[in-house]
Amino acid sequence: MVLRRDNGHGHTQVVVAPERPQLELMTVGLVGLGYWGPNLLRVLADFPDVEVRTICDADGDRLERFQRRYPTVAATPFLGELLADPEIDAILIATPISTHFDLASRALRAGKHTFVEKPLAPSSAEAAELVTMARDLDRILMCGHTFLYSPAVRAVKDLLSRGELGDLYFISSSRVNLGLHQRDVSVVWDLAPHDFSILLHWLDGQMPESISTIGRDAVVHGIPDVAFIDLTFPSGLIAHVELSWLAPSKLRRTALVGSEKMVVYDDVSSAEPVKIFDHGVVYQDPETFGQYHLSYRTGDVVAPKLDTTEPIALQLADFLNSIRTGEQPVADMELARRVVSMVEAAEQSLEIGGAPVILETLAERS
Ligand SMILES: NC(=O)c1ccc[n+]([C@@H]2O[C@H](COP(=O)([O-])OP(=O)(O)OC[C@H]3O[C@@H](n4cnc5c(N)ncnc54)[C@H](O)[C@@H]3O)[C@@H](O)[C@H]2O)c1
Repeated sequence: MVLRRDNGHGHTQVVVAPERPQLELMTVGLVGLGYWGPNLLRVLADFPDVEVRTICDADGDRLERFQRRYPTVAATPFLGELLADPEIDAILIATPISTHFDLASRALRAGKHTFVEKPLAPSSAEAAELVTMARDLDRILMCGHTFLYSPAVRAVKDLLSRGELGDLYFISSSRVNLGLHQRDVSVVWDLAPHDFSILLHWLDGQMPESISTIGRDAVVHGIPDVAFIDLTFPSGLIAHVELSWLAPSKLRRTALVGSEKMVVYDDVSSAEPVKIFDHGVVYQDPETFGQYHLSYRTGDVVAPKLDTTEPIALQLADFLNSIRTGEQPVADMELARRVVSMVEAAEQSLEIGGAPVILETLAERS
């Protein structure tokens, strides 16, 4: 770009400013305006390179409320209208889990790039079918695993990639809160996709060998609202995930313990969501019979400074970038498929009273 400006001495100076790439305008439609969909809408409406063309919800009152808020956006209760609109490049789906396969497969077959809220589908067979469909139709299919875009989760991933924790012994996480009880799915289908997607991301896609879950339907008969999930991995790593809609206070805390360092990732702490502890224990082989020596090391505790960009904005920017470049997003469809397999295994174990469910790790990796 060529700019002309006065050089302060009455002469015109010609300056060549660096070109800012003009991003191609992306036209999108959004389905589902319940609890989560409005967050996607708010962020998309702020993107200068996105036109939200149509919003869709089966609930007429909700639709009307959002159309008043976004008067330039068209509104319809029928997904078919979005599918038939040739101007719409991509569809985002934030409806209940039971609808994900039907709506996402219709969007893909209509030639739309498709973003589906987590989890990708209500069964591993349907998740696999969506992945195949997206590949065959050459469309981007992305799942809303928002936490993969959290600067804190990314900071932990960097630590692991650099091997700073040493040999990773175990991971233990708690995701508990009072509410929101879901009417149609267990706490495992609702919350485990968050922790499972984070684990897969941190472990470079490594699937667990076995998953066992105990839980109970404390409040609503038939809908488990608390679950304790244990996972074992081929590397020897073990993980424990505690999930609940019934808890005295909100916890979003994960501890990672390695041979060199330990980390606490606390998503509720806005000041220091990641703390790295230079702590450990050294075991020395006994030189003489009866000698048993452990030395504990408690070094510095460091809280890295993190980016404060909203994860949902990074996530949606990644979706749009994938559509433009054809590259897979960070929350790629293969990771999303694996998450569904893990949730399904955790649910199966819950149904059989906590017996371990063995995952086909080799098949999963192929
Ligand atoms: N990424 C995250 O952090 C995050 C957080 C919360 C929820 N979610 C996910 O978002 C999705 C929606 O959850 P929610 O809590 O907003 O649900 P919700 O029940 O509050 O809202 C769902 C909306 O979809 C509409 N709907 C249902 N079927 C439809 C159809 N066939 N066509 C058009 N509209 C339809 C409903 O009328 C409702 O307004 C779920 O997959 C959930 O797991 C993701």
